[in-house]
Parts: sequence; structure tokens; C-alpha cells
Amino acid sequence: AGRDGKVLRMVMFGKPGAGKGTLSSRLVKKCDIMSLSTGDILRQNILERTEVGVMAEELVKRGELVSDDIMLKILTNKLDTLHNQPWILDGFPRTLGQGKMLNEHLETKSIPLTLIVNLDVPDEVILARISDRYVHLPSGRVYNMSYNKPRVPGFDDITGEPLAKRPDDNPETFALRLNKFYEATSPLLEYYASQPSTGTKLITLKGSTSDEIWPQLDYVVRQAFPGLPERTEPKKRHS
Ligand code: AP5
Repeated sequence: AGRDGKVLRMVMFGKPGAGKGTLSSRLVKKCDIMSLSTGDILRQNILERTEVGVMAEELVKRGELVSDDIMLKILTNKLDTLHNQPWILDGFPRTLGQGKMLNEHLETKSIPLTLIVNLDVPDEVILARISDRYVHLPSGRVYNMSYNKPRVPGFDDITGEPLAKRPDDNPETFALRLNKFYEATSPLLEYYASQPSTGTKLITLKGSTSDEIWPQLDYVVRQAFPGLPERTEPKKRHS
């Protein structure tokens, strides 16, 4: 809990490839927090060929967004199992509609968002990173061939299973995802900025490398939530 007893309930906001997944997993490694990535949840559903997965596969591959109703259902089902635990949302909300639906859902449970982190990374930095990204699809662990290499090239550090390229990480689809961000997702920032009375802290972190952004994020979280328990043992499932 934070200084005033607030629990960390955070949205990690940013362009595709800004580092939401990478920075969330660093926080999860350090502190006892749950992270929910809607992208990872969808990719897992696609891998397991669930009803949601079959429906989402083509949309995700093309860089389109899955409908607000489906996303809200997937997310709230998971959130409701977490009770009063601290959590981070990575990749949700992604439209104004999702932001409003999330607020309504959290209001009914009396658990408002407490922190929104906006990662501000230049487009050209992101475009260069994406071609270097490899993922372990079952867990969502992310590697980068120049910045965060796996111990054995091509294989996951924890399971030893092969790494893959995401089907939506080619330059054409990535350009589309970036456009979608400007069109559908960035208006959410104005929405959150226009609600200062809710007590949710909104901060923007700027930078091009992890050396610039990670210490800022770590500082902000420790300042706002000094009681957040740090892990004594390393978390096994996420890198
Ligand atoms: P999702 O998986 O959420 O994709 P995204 O938002 O496009 O984000 P990414 O996973 O590409 O990037 P990231 O910011 O997590 O960056 P990362 O840490 O990997 O969604 C995929 C698709 O699912 C969507 O297009 C949509 O179809 C659907 N979807 C998901 N959520 C939805 C929703 N709510 N509504 C509707 N549809 C939804 O980092 C990127 C690379 O940079 C990596 O290689 C990494 O190693 C490297 N890197 C990261 N940080 C740094 C750093 N600080 N310095 C140097 N390199 C770094």
C-alpha cells in the first residue's frame, strides 16, 4: 500500500513497442505485483485456439484492435480474481471506450486506478527496436537481440523453448499499429488528464533507453507506494 494506504493499481500506457511489457516485467521481478498484458492474454488464446483466440487471430495479425466488449470481459474476469492485490495493466485500456468502461467497473468495486504511467518514446527509436524483438509466446517474455539477449540465441532463458517473431512485428503492420495508437489510444491521455479530482496520479516518463526510463519508473513507484513489498525470492514465471 502507498503512503495514504493506496494500493498500486496502475496503467502502463504507451505506443506499441514503447517498452510497456519490458518495464512491467522489471517491476514484477522486483515487487510483489501482478501484471496483466492484454496482448499476452490474446496471444495465449490464439496459441490455444480458444473461442476468443480464433476470433482475435486475424485482427491481431493485421494490427487491428479487438472489440471493446470482448477486451473488457477478458480483463475484468482476470481483475476480479485479484481482489485487493497490487496490479499493473499493460496494453489496456486502449480506447476511450475501454477507459470509461474500466473506470465504471472499478468504481462498482470501489478500487480506483491509482497511477497512470505514460511512456513517451520517439517513433524512430521504437521502429528500430521492433525488428530486434523476439518473444517466448507461452509466457510473453520479451527479448531483444541488441539490448536484452537470451542466454542461448533463439531460446527462452527459463524453459529452453524456442523463441518466435510476432506475426504483427513486420514493418507494414507495425506502421498500422502506430497509426491506431495515434487515432484510438492517445485520446485516453486527455481523458485521464481531465480527471484530476479522482486522485489518480498521471506521470509521463521520457527516454530512449532503459537506462533512462527504468530508474525514473522505479523512483515514482517507490515514492508513491513506499510500502509495496519487494520480492525476497525471484519470481519464476516472468523474466
Ligand atoms: P500488445 O501486445 O499490447 O502490443 P503493443 O501495445 O503493440 O505493445 P508491444 O507488445 O508491441 O510493445 P511494448 O510496449 O510492450 O514493448 P516491449 O516491452 O515489448 O497488443 C498486440 C495486439 O493485441 C494489438 O495490436 C491488438 O490487436 C490486440 N490488443 C491488445 N490489447 C488490446 C486492447 N486493450 N484492445 C484491443 N485490442 C488489443 O518492447 C519493445 C522492444 O523494445 C523489445 O524488443 C524490447 O526488448 C525493447 N525495449 C523495451 N524497452 C527498452 C528500453 N527501455 N531500451 C531499449 N530497448 C527496449
